Order: sequence, then structure tokens, then C-alpha cells
Amino acid sequence: MNKRILITGGVGFIGVNAAERFLKDGWSVDIFDNFSRKGVELNEQYLKALPASKNLAIHRGDVRTDHDLLEKLCDTADVVLHLAAQVAVTTSVTDPRTDFDINALGTFNVLEAVRASTKKPIMIYASTNKVYGSLEHLSVIEQENKYALGGGLRAVDENQPLDFHSPYGCSKGAADQYVRDYSRLYGLKTVVFRQSCIYGHRQLGIEDQGWVAWFMIAAMFKRPVTLYGNGKQVRDLLFVDDLVEAYVQAVAHIDKCSGQVYNLGGGPENALSLMEFFSILEEDFGQKLSPAHSPERPGDQPLFIADNGKFEADSGWQAKTNVRDGLKKLHQWLTDNKAMLQGFYK
Ligand SMILES: NC(=O)c1ccc[n+]([C@@H]2O[C@H](COP(=O)([O-])OP(=O)(O)OC[C@H]3O[C@@H](n4cnc5c(N)ncnc54)[C@H](O)[C@@H]3O)[C@@H](O)[C@H]2O)c1
Repeated sequence: MNKRILITGGVGFIGVNAAERFLKDGWSVDIFDNFSRKGVELNEQYLKALPASKNLAIHRGDVRTDHDLLEKLCDTADVVLHLAAQVAVTTSVTDPRTDFDINALGTFNVLEAVRASTKKPIMIYASTNKVYGSLEHLSVIEQENKYALGGGLRAVDENQPLDFHSPYGCSKGAADQYVRDYSRLYGLKTVVFRQSCIYGHRQLGIEDQGWVAWFMIAAMFKRPVTLYGNGKQVRDLLFVDDLVEAYVQAVAHIDKCSGQVYNLGGGPENALSLMEFFSILEEDFGQKLSPAHSPERPGDQPLFIADNGKFEADSGWQAKTNVRDGLKKLHQWLTDNKAMLQGFYK
């Protein structure tokens, strides 16, 4: 019998890429999603057209309320990849209760469904580097077009203190700690990935989330954009295929990875400031953006660069996609799908 994975949030950006990969690898895939993210029907159609879609089942459900369906699906799963979330910091500030309900309580519901199951599937949780807050205690140097880490530090590892900023940071951070603790307390095989910025094909970026795709799409359709802060903020970018490979490797090395928390991003080699990103858009794709300027947004980290060392050591995984190549792949996907995206971004 095929191995079976349940992907919550499975028609979202990361979910659709994970579902495609696991289907290609011969798994049966259950998706559980409430379709609240605008445009995810496009991902549903894409998955249904894949050759392996006979092994795919898509269920409409909400992690806040659909306990019976969650329990039923967790009961037959070998792996639960929990991606469903309220994903925008901005929305979490305007509606913190909904953010809490989906991210904290919703994750708790998934964990309880895993705990109640007979098979006790592996559970992978997509947490965020936002759990480290703005890292005020680290030395950050302001350079001409970016911030840089001072004190000889190249990247941020898992030993940094937790310091949740914004309701999104709090709700994801609470969930992150629950997922970790359920491994200690109940012996569940859980893995937490504190992910940096993820980008890649099928990312329906909007101003509030998915900024890499959003700026490229805005340039393509000549939509106005706003730059919050001075543009020197640095993020390490991880291509979505590399992230999905990390999920695959975590499952393959679960004896080592169970109960662990890992930072996961593009690392120092794939870190860019927004100003550097804008220069690449111009140099590599001839896309010139003239953003309006606004003060930085609450909870915005000046810099985050993940130290991937712990996960690399435990699994042998490495980020393979150089950021310039990854941006070319995303740009190609956007260009190839311009007509489809036009309807969505009109
Ligand atoms: N994309 C990134 O850069 C990034 C970085 C760090 C962490 N993450 C985390 O990765 C996960 C996936 O992110 P993404 O970029 O694919 O986002 P996405 O918005 O594309 O996908 C999230 C999916 O969850 C679904 N969903 C939302 N609320 C739900 C609910 N109550 N019940 C069931 N489904 C619900 C949405 O419809 C959507 O399909 C999230 O948990 C996010 O916090 C993403």
C-alpha cells in the first residue's frame, strides 16, 4: 500500500508544491483546506490535472471546527504536514482573534487529532523565523544598501531566545511550542521548521504576504507597489522545491529529527536586501519598480538569515537553488502563466 500524507493548507502555495512532490514520489495525498486563500482554486485545478491525481483526495475543511474530518484523516495518515494558517502579519494585527483561532487553536486541533489517532503519524509543522522577533540583542550594521550581521555572526541558529512579535508571531510561536512539546510529552514524532522567506512557482503573492512573487507580479502588470522601511531589510530566500525536499528528508530521517526544531532558509549565500532584490529585477528581467515609500511595518525584522547547520547535520539536506536561479524559475513560471494570473490580479 502507498504511504499516505495529509497536507493541511494543501492547495496553498507551499501545499500545492508539496502535494505534487509526494504524488510524484508515489504517495497517496489527502488535502484538507478551507479554500480561504484567494486564488487557490487554480492550484486545485492544477493538482487534479496531474497524472498521479488518482492518488489525490481534496477535502474542504477548517482546522478550527472540523474535528471529525481531521481525526478521520489523521487516523489513516503516515505523515501530517500542517501548513494551514492565517499567513499575513498585517491581517493578524487587524484581526488577532481570527489569527489566534486558526494558527494556535487550529494547530492544537491538528495535534490532538494526531494524538488521538491509532497510527500516530509523523507531524511536520511549518513555523516561522518570526518566533525570534527583531533580534535586538544582535549587532546589526547598516551598510549602503543592506543591513549586515556584526560580531562575526553569519547566520541565526536555534539557540536564539524566542521573542514573539505581532499576533502572527505569537500564534505561530505558541503552535511551534505545542508541536515540540507534544513530542516530549506524548512521544509523538513531530518536527518544527522555522522557515525563512519561501518563494517559487505557484506563489500567488499579494502585498501582505509572499513579497518576492508580489513584486515580480506587480512589475509584470505595472501595478503600484509600496516599499515599507528603507529597503535595507535582509531576508534569506529558500526556493520552494528545496523546502519540500527538506520535508521529504525529515520524514526519511525521522529517527534523528523527531522532537527537533530547525531553522530553515536559503542561508547566507541566498540572503538579499530589498534594495538588492530590486536591482536583480532590473538587471536580470528588465523590471524597474518605482515604489511609494512608507514607514516600516510593525514587527518587521531588520535582518534574518537562517543557520541551516543543525538540519543539514541531522538529515544531509542542503539548499540547492541559488537565489538568482530560483528567481529566474519563478519569473519564467509567471511569464508562462501570465494569462491565468491576469484574471487573478486584474
Ligand atoms: N511562504 C512563506 O514564506 C512562509 C514562511 C514561513 C512560514 N510559512 C508557513 O507555511 C505555511 C504555508 O504557507 P503558504 O505560503 O503556503 O501560505 P498559503 O496562504 O498559500 O497557504 C495556506 C493555506 O491554508 C489554507 N487555510 C487558511 N486557513 C485555514 C483554515 N482555517 N482551515 C484550513 N485551511 C486553511 C488556505 O486556504 C491556504 O490554502 C503557513 O503555515 C505559513 O505560516 C510560510
